[in-house]
Amino acid sequence: MSKCLNLLLLLLMFCFFYQKEILPAGNSSISVSGKKRGNITLRCEHEDDNIVHVELFTPSRNISVCETEECRGRVFKEGNCDVVIKNLIFSDAGKYTLRIYYNNDQTELKPKKDWTYHLHIHDEISVKTGEELKMSVLWIDADKVKTNSSGEWKEVWTRDHGVQSDRMNDDNDGNLIIKSFLDSDAGTYRVLDTEGEILITVTITAGENTVSHRSAPEHWSWVENVHFGFVIIVFFMYIVIIAVQFLLMFAGII
Ligand SMILES: *[C@@H]1O[C@H](CO)[C@@H](O)[C@H](O)[C@H]1NC(C)=O
Ligand SMILES: *[C@@H]1O[C@H](CO)[C@@H](O)[C@H](O)[C@H]1NC(C)=O
Ligand SMILES: *[C@@H]1O[C@H](CO)[C@@H](O)[C@H](O)[C@H]1NC(C)=O
Ligand SMILES: *[C@@H]1O[C@H](CO)[C@@H](O)[C@H](O)[C@H]1NC(C)=O
Repeated sequence: MSKCLNLLLLLLMFCFFYQKEILPAGNSSISVSGKKRGNITLRCEHEDDNIVHVELFTPSRNISVCETEECRGRVFKEGNCDVVIKNLIFSDAGKYTLRIYYNNDQTELKPKKDWTYHLHIHDEISVKTGEELKMSVLWIDADKVKTNSSGEWKEVWTRDHGVQSDRMNDDNDGNLIIKSFLDSDAGTYRVLDTEGEILITVTITAGENTVSHRSAPEHWSWVENVHFGFVIIVFFMYIVIIAVQFLLMFAGII
């Protein structure tokens, strides 16, 4: 009976991981996260080699995709239909649609396939006390900026009302500015879009004038958080059941 229970739990865990694997394959957008100045690949997963055309666009603009890496642009095609954006900048953050047109022998019409992505950009910077800090994060899609520098998450900028903190200014070039940095300004700064999705994460540490090499913060969507919580609970239940089995075994021996 308890063996069955164990098996059931293992099965549950397996199903759960399997589901996590196939989740992005649906119509929901695929989350990708890249470091500022780094590169990112938007994967399209189209097996056949019959693609005639690739388009990349955001809700507000069309992006020209170079056929090879050699051309001058930052955006180029790789392999079948993957698209690489190199030397990432903050304003790259946001929603993208990758559309491919491919040949289909059965029809004259050009069939197409879409993938949507949410691109998150992160960066870590270290700022000395008294220095001016300019973050070029207030791009078209930016709706809110939040920081936890005070120990709890607070809104410091909104699209409608501008700067909400007396530590900061903004300018017309999309910069959020801290005139004279204090150690108490250190923390994580998040830029959110109108749907509350994180576009940009900047982790600011107070200190030397050298770039910190701490590992990049992971971008956790709420789905991943829920998944993570679920794994912990299942794992805990599993441990408890094994413990109970041991106790029963001992009780049996005595
Ligand atoms: C998937 O998204 C496309 C637009 O990107 C939409 O036209 C289509 O109806 C969606 N399909 C499903 C099953 O939701
Ligand atoms: C990004 O891609 C370019 C060109 O492919 C390459 O030279 C560069 O080293 C890459 N940078 C990173 C951080 O991977
Ligand atoms: C993008 O290009 C398509 C044609 O390829 C055009 O219909 C559309 O208006 C363009 N969108 C923007 C935002 O420029
Ligand atoms: C802000 O949040 C990050 C995680 O997002 C955490 O690592 C950091 O310690 C927090 N900072 C403060 C000052 O609470």
